[in-house]
Amino acid sequence: MGLNNLFSIYNYYATDYMLGTIFHFGLYYLLFINAFYLYKDGSKYILLNSQKDNTTISNSLISIQSAENCKGFSETICQLPEIENNKFWNWFAGIIDGDGNFDIRIDPISKKKSLKQIRIKLHNRDIRILTRIQNYLHLGRIRSDKNKPYSIFIVSDKENMIYLLNHLNGLIRLKVPNFKEACHIYNIMYKEANYNIELYDPYYSGLIDTDGSIVYNYSGNRIECNLEFKYNEYTSKLNFNNTIKNSKPFIIIRKKASKKGGSQNFTSIAFKFQNVNDMLFIYDYFMKNRLYSDMKFYRVSKIKSFIEIRKYKTSTRNSLEHKIYSNFVIDFIKYENPLWYKVPCVDKYLLYKE
Ligand SMILES: *[C@@H]1O[C@H](CO)[C@@H](O)[C@H](O)[C@H]1NC(C)=O
Ligand SMILES: *[C@@H]1O[C@H](CO)[C@@H](O)[C@H](O)[C@H]1NC(C)=O
Ligand SMILES: *[C@@H]1O[C@H](CO)[C@@H](O)[C@H](O)[C@H]1NC(C)=O
Ligand SMILES: *[C@@H]1O[C@H](CO)[C@@H](O)[C@H](O)[C@H]1NC(C)=O
Repeated sequence: MGLNNLFSIYNYYATDYMLGTIFHFGLYYLLFINAFYLYKDGSKYILLNSQKDNTTISNSLISIQSAENCKGFSETICQLPEIENNKFWNWFAGIIDGDGNFDIRIDPISKKKSLKQIRIKLHNRDIRILTRIQNYLHLGRIRSDKNKPYSIFIVSDKENMIYLLNHLNGLIRLKVPNFKEACHIYNIMYKEANYNIELYDPYYSGLIDTDGSIVYNYSGNRIECNLEFKYNEYTSKLNFNNTIKNSKPFIIIRKKASKKGGSQNFTSIAFKFQNVNDMLFIYDYFMKNRLYSDMKFYRVSKIKSFIEIRKYKTSTRNSLEHKIYSNFVIDFIKYENPLWYKVPCVDKYLLYKE
C-alpha cells in the first residue's frame, strides 16, 4: 500500500473526474478498511467505494469537529459508520416516502391519537430492500402475506419508533402529514426537509427502489429512469434538477383516470430522465448509490453496454448486429419479469424464433 498506491488512485480520479474538491487535498494518510478506501486531509474525508470499479467514487465529506471526538485507531471505527450512516438514512427516507406508512390511530373514546406502527410494504420480488433495512438497523420484523406476493417490514415498539422518527426528521418529503402527527405524538419538533435533492443524494435511489422504474424505450432507443406520483403539495415541490450530474428530468403533469371511476380521477406528476445523454449519468449516480431492488439494479448496470450497441437497432434483421441488439434488449426486459414476452416491441421487432 502506502503512498504509491494512494497516488495512483488519486491521479486516476483527478484526471477522470475533475472533482473540484480533489484538488484541495493535502493527503495525510489513507485508511484501508474492508472494501473502502478512506482519504483524509485536514478537514475532509473522501470515501472510495470498493476496488472493483474505480469510477464508483462516493465523495462523502464530514467535518473535523466530530472527528476530534475520536483519537487514534478508534477514529476508523467512529468515522466510517458516520459516512455510511448518512447514506443509509437518506436512502431509507426515500424508501419510506415511496412505500412506507406511519399508521396513526385515533382512540374512539378518548380521541387521543397514537402511532401504532411504522411499516414498509413491498412486493416479494424486492424483499432484499427489507432485509437490508432490518440488518442495518437491527430492529423490526418482516412478515409475508400468506395470500398475496407482499412482505411487510414492521416496527411497533415505542422506543424503536421514536428512534426512527428522530433519524428521519428533516428527511421526509412526501409522507409528511402522518410523519408530522407521529412526531407530535412523541413531542418531537418536526423539521421540514429540503426539497432540492442534492447531487448524489441517496434519497433519490430510495425513491427509485420503491416507486421508480428503469425502462427500455424502443422508439427512443434508450434506457430511462422514471418516477411518477400523485400530484400534490409535496410531490410538486420535489426538485431533481441537481441530483444527477449534467442531467435534468423532464416533468409531465397530466390527468389520470382512476379504475374506480371518473370522480376518483387524479393528476399525476412524472419526473423522467429520458435524454440519450442522461444515460451515462444515470449509471454514474447509481454506481454511487446502488439500488437494492435487484431487478432495477440489474437494469441500471446494463446501461454502459447498451450505449455501445444501441447503434445496431437499425441494422437489417438477421444481421449479426441486429441479433446482438435484440439479445441485449430481451435479456434486459426478461430479468425477473414474468410478463416480458408481453412487451409489445419484443414480439414485433426483437424476438428471433430459432
Ligand atoms: C482501479 O485502480 C487500481 C489501482 O490503481 C488498478 O490496479 C485497477 O486496475 C483499476 N481498476 C479499474 C477497473 O480501472
Ligand atoms: C419513448 O420515447 C418516445 C420518443 O422519444 C416518446 O414519445 C415516448 O413517450 C416514450 N415512451 C414512454 C413509454 O415513455
Ligand atoms: C429545473 O430545470 C428546468 C429546466 O432548466 C427549469 O425550467 C425549472 O424551473 C427548474 N426547476 C426548479 C425547481 O428550479
Ligand atoms: C375521468 O376519466 C374518465 C375516463 O378517462 C373520463 O371520461 C372523465 O371525463 C374523467 N373525469 C374527470 C372529472 O376528469
